Amino acid sequence: MEYAANPLRYDHMTYHRCGRSGLRLPAISLGLWHNFGGVDTLENARSMLRLAFDRGITHFDLANNYGPPPGSAETLFGQLLKQDFARHRDELIISTKAGYLMWPGPYGEWGSKKYLVSSLDQSLLRMGIDYVDIFYSHRPDPDTPLEETMGALDLIYRQGKALYVGISNYSADQTAEAIAILKQLGTPCLIHQPKYSMMERWAENGLLDVLEQEGVGCIPFSPLAQGLLTDKYLKGIPTGSRAALPHGFLKESSITEETVRKITSLHEIAGQRGQTLAQMAISWLLKDPRVTSVLIGASRPTQIVDCLGSLSNTTFAPEELAAIEVILREP
Ligand SMILES: NC(=O)c1ccc[n+]([C@@H]2O[C@H](COP(=O)([O-])OP(=O)(O)OC[C@H]3O[C@@H](n4cnc5c(N)ncnc54)[C@H](OP(=O)(O)O)[C@@H]3O)[C@@H](O)[C@H]2O)c1
Repeated sequence: MEYAANPLRYDHMTYHRCGRSGLRLPAISLGLWHNFGGVDTLENARSMLRLAFDRGITHFDLANNYGPPPGSAETLFGQLLKQDFARHRDELIISTKAGYLMWPGPYGEWGSKKYLVSSLDQSLLRMGIDYVDIFYSHRPDPDTPLEETMGALDLIYRQGKALYVGISNYSADQTAEAIAILKQLGTPCLIHQPKYSMMERWAENGLLDVLEQEGVGCIPFSPLAQGLLTDKYLKGIPTGSRAALPHGFLKESSITEETVRKITSLHEIAGQRGQTLAQMAISWLLKDPRVTSVLIGASRPTQIVDCLGSLSNTTFAPEELAAIEVILREP
């Protein structure tokens, strides 16, 4: 059936300014890393994208290698964009990235200008669009001068193939350096995409400070630790969950006794706050004004609805935060 977007889609979403830019992003964005590839069903992907857009999620995050197979998430997204969202292109923030292995030979991964420029051209073709809103260097390349990688982002920005550029998985020091080079080139760094959740705190050791100081936004990925910070694994590994899938990035071995003990205690605190654990994990990130948007993944529409519920309570009492810290610091 032809898609008619919900006319009330902007009524219940909060939009945060991304650093000191003019761009505002929804408090929750949707990533297409898992569940949107060639191994997944188009209809489920369609339902998730429609639901997300209908609830004010304007930002969809991709990368050249999302699938499996690599590239298939962009192809599937391009198909749904054409069928359902063509008339809404100006309401969407579409991002993609390059950094991980895409094709054989010396130019198929990392951070050379050759790779980044060719990869974005391929991504645009797969998605059937002329430009992306945000293009990221997906990971720092230890063997390519940072000037070259940032120079490639600057070129892409000037060509209009990306309206904004960002970096992902760069350390605090690398980030400061990248921002400075981009500034010199006259291309602002819009955003950083770090792995950040209750279970993964490295961003707190300097990165968030650099971003705040430089007026760069922050969009944490894997905010639910790939599903660990939900009620999913409290009683074993359910069939069809990411940890049970052969191509899922979450390994069964990550679901240790200690982790289950922690998530059980966190689940209790969430219950006392009137939230699900997924909602509390997202609220916990959004309590920090330096976090522009939280980048979730989902395998079905109901999960997105659940996650959106976090927006009605993003503040924490000091005692709640202290109790969460005690649990997270347990060995
Ligand atoms: N820049 C990078 O290097 C990088 C790396 C990784 C990811 N990312 C981006 O970040 C996005 C999100 O990453 P992620 O998928 O790992 O995020 P996540 O939100 O931590 O995990 C998503 C998974 O959690 C489960 N889930 C979500 N909502 C739930 C709910 N309400 N109740 C129960 N379970 C729920 C689902 O697992 P099941 O599938 O088991 O149902 C879902 O697939 C990616 O799509 C991608 O865009 C970027």
